[in-house]
Amino acid sequence: MASPSTANKRDRPAKPAPQSYFVKSFGCQMNVYDGERMGELLDADGMTAADSADAADLVILNTCHIREKAAEKVYSEIGRLKRDGPQRTIAVAGCVAQAEGAEIMARAAAVDIVVGPQAYHRLPALVAEAARSGRALDTDMPAQSKFDMLPRRRRTNASAFLTIQEGCDKFCTYCVVPYTRGAEVSRPWSQVVDEARALIDAGAVEITLLGQNVNAWTGTDEKGREQGFDGLLRALDRLPGLRRIRYTTSHPMDVTDGLIAAHGEIAALMPYLHLPVQSGSDQVLKAMNRSHDRALYLRLIERFRAVRPDIAISGDFIVGFPGETEAEFAETLSIVDAVNYAQAFSFKYSPRPGTPAATLDGEVAPEMMDDRLQRLQALLGAQQAAFNQASVGRRTEVLLERRGRKPGQLLGKTPWLQSAIVEAPDVAIGDIVTVDLLAAGPLSLVAAPVRRAAA
Ligand code: SAH
Ligand code: SF4
Ligand code: F3S
Repeated sequence: MASPSTANKRDRPAKPAPQSYFVKSFGCQMNVYDGERMGELLDADGMTAADSADAADLVILNTCHIREKAAEKVYSEIGRLKRDGPQRTIAVAGCVAQAEGAEIMARAAAVDIVVGPQAYHRLPALVAEAARSGRALDTDMPAQSKFDMLPRRRRTNASAFLTIQEGCDKFCTYCVVPYTRGAEVSRPWSQVVDEARALIDAGAVEITLLGQNVNAWTGTDEKGREQGFDGLLRALDRLPGLRRIRYTTSHPMDVTDGLIAAHGEIAALMPYLHLPVQSGSDQVLKAMNRSHDRALYLRLIERFRAVRPDIAISGDFIVGFPGETEAEFAETLSIVDAVNYAQAFSFKYSPRPGTPAATLDGEVAPEMMDDRLQRLQALLGAQQAAFNQASVGRRTEVLLERRGRKPGQLLGKTPWLQSAIVEAPDVAIGDIVTVDLLAAGPLSLVAAPVRRAAA
C-alpha cells in the first residue's frame, strides 16, 4: 500500500488525536454508502461514533460535486465547524475532495484531511498522519480497489445499500462523475455476494444495489461463467433471507434483454425503475452526449411495462442545458407526458468546471431556467400525485424502516418505493407487513395493517 501523502504541513501544533467521529454525507446514495463504510473503518480503528457533528472530535464532510450548489455547501460547513470547535479535526471526503482537493487545502486552513472517494480505505492512516504532522491529503485512484481493504459489514438497517459498480465511462458533457469517481469498475461477483450475505446476517431484508451505471455491471460467477447484471440479480435472489432487491442508477444504453426479462421473473425484484433520460429532445440528448435518443428510451419503457405492467418509472431531468430552445424544452414535457412517471428528480443545468458543456455558448437565462423547471416540476408532481392516488384501495406489502412523527406510527416503503405511514403499535422496524392503502397525499400514503381473522 502506498503511504498517504502529506500536503502543506503547518507550523501550528497538531490537533489532539480524535477519539470520536461524525460523518455528514451530502450526495447520492453511493456517497451515503461511502459514509457508512468510513464509519465502519473508524470503528474498527477504535474510534466511536458521535451523535452529532458538535459532539465529535473528527467531522468528515462527505461531499458532492454534481451541481454548484452542492459543492458550495462545503465551504460554509467548514466555516461553521471551525467557529464552533477550533480543536476539532475536519476532513473533507467525497467528490469535491477529489475534484478540488489541493484547492481546499489552500483555501481552507481549518481543513486537516482531504480524502477522495477511491482512497478512503486509508482514512485511519490519514487521521493518524494529521494528528502527527498537521495535515494529510490522499486523492489517489489506486489500482487495488478500496473494497479489498474494507472491514466485513456488521451493522445495517433493514434496507441496505451495496455498491457493486463504480465510476463512469459515458462522459455526458455536463457531468463531473467520470472525473470524480474515475473509470467504470465492477466489483467481483464473489465480493458482491459475500457483502450481500453479511448484510443479510446483520439484519437487512432489502438491498439496493448501487452504481453510477449499475446495470453496466459485468463479472464472472463461481463457475467461471461470464455474467451480466441480470445474472447477478438472479444469484442474489437465491440468497435466503433477502426479501427485496432494488438497484440504481441504470443507464438506457446498458439495459439488456436479460434485465427486462428479470423484471418479469424475479419476485424479489421490486417493480421500480429509475431510468434517467435528462431531456426529451434528440438535439439536446446529442449535445449532452447521452448516446441514446428519445425513441430508444420510450421503447425501453414500453418493454419493461410489457413484462411488469405495474412497474413504477422514475427519472432525472436537466432543464436549461446550453442552447436548449423553448421547442426543445417542450419535447421534455412531451416525453414526460408519454412516460407518465411515478417519481422524478429535475434540476437546473449547472455548469461544472472541466466538463465540455461548461465551454458551450447559448447559456439559458436564469428566469427562463426557473420557468422551465417550474413547469416541468408541476407536471411531474401531478403525475406522482396521480400515481399515489391510483394506489389507494390496493392491498400490498410495506417494509417498515423507521419511526414516524407520532407515537405508534411507523414509516415504510411500498414495492413502488412510495412512502407509507402505518399506524401499527404491534409491528416493528424491519418487518414487512401486509397493508391496505387507505389514502394518498402528494408524497406519501396512509396504510393500515391487515389483521388476520382470529382462529
Ligand atoms: N449516472 C446517472 C446520474 C448521476 S448524477 C445517470 O446517468 O443517470 C444524477 C443526476 O444529476 C443526473 O441524472 C442529472 O440529472 C443530474 N446532473 C448531473 N450533472 C448535472 C449538472 N451539471 N447540472 C444539473 N444537473 C446535473
Ligand atoms: Fe454522469 Fe452521464 Fe455518467 Fe450518468 S452516465 S454518471 S450523467 S457521465
Ligand atoms: Fe455527487 Fe459524487 Fe454522487 S458528485 S452525486 S456524490 S458520485
